[in-house]
Amino acid sequence: MNIKVLTDYEEMSICTAEFIIDFVQKKPDSLLCLAGGHTPLKTFDFLVEAVNKVQVDFSRCKFVSLDEWVGVGISVKGSCQETLNSSLFDRISIPKEHICFFNGLAENVEAECKRIDDFIKTNGKIDLIMLGIGLNGHLGFNEPNINPNLYSHVVELDDVTKEVSSKYFEEPVSTEKGISLGLKHIVDSDTIVLIADGVKKAEILKQTVEGEKTNKVPSSLLQDQPNVHLFLDKEAASLLEG
Ligand code: PGA
Repeated sequence: MNIKVLTDYEEMSICTAEFIIDFVQKKPDSLLCLAGGHTPLKTFDFLVEAVNKVQVDFSRCKFVSLDEWVGVGISVKGSCQETLNSSLFDRISIPKEHICFFNGLAENVEAECKRIDDFIKTNGKIDLIMLGIGLNGHLGFNEPNINPNLYSHVVELDDVTKEVSSKYFEEPVSTEKGISLGLKHIVDSDTIVLIADGVKKAEILKQTVEGEKTNKVPSSLLQDQPNVHLFLDKEAASLLEG
């Protein structure tokens, strides 16, 4: 893991955006997977700014979904796809055909998983995946005790994930299950970017970086990967010893 500690959320977001911009400048037809959630929102602002200044062009990139709440459609504010659309895709005019996202309302979830797996296979592999880290160490909806050999799958969500979920939605929604890329997709990605900020993430960051490597803390399974770039603010890094 390559770890970079930045002063605050703003600096962490700038540094993450610069990393992604540099990556896309080198490989303009990248397949990208960018997480929803709250941590990346400012990174997206900086990416939009860079597009407006013509410093980077995402028009040849393709985008695949990380995860979605099962039963939650794109029209629901706070769904993963709505978050990505409103915070990034709509602001930089990504062609719809370059975006392949899980449909949380799909009746046949197995077919939905296959559709996403096939899209990734057709495009080779994910070039860059950017992930937040859950308070329980989940990556996407790869929850504690996950089987690390899975590709896309449907999962019963962990209690911590269900508890945290209300922060994303204006109205109550059922968040019992998620549909997610698997850890295998994450590990197979060419470049993995993990981001976290705030003191609330300090304990899970310590477990991620310095704790036992275990599927009880899915993020810890990335410990030995040289292609992982961890961008933290000082607060999230505050319990790290190294
Ligand atoms: P957050 O979510 O960015 O909203 O903190 C991270 C996650 O749960 O993966």
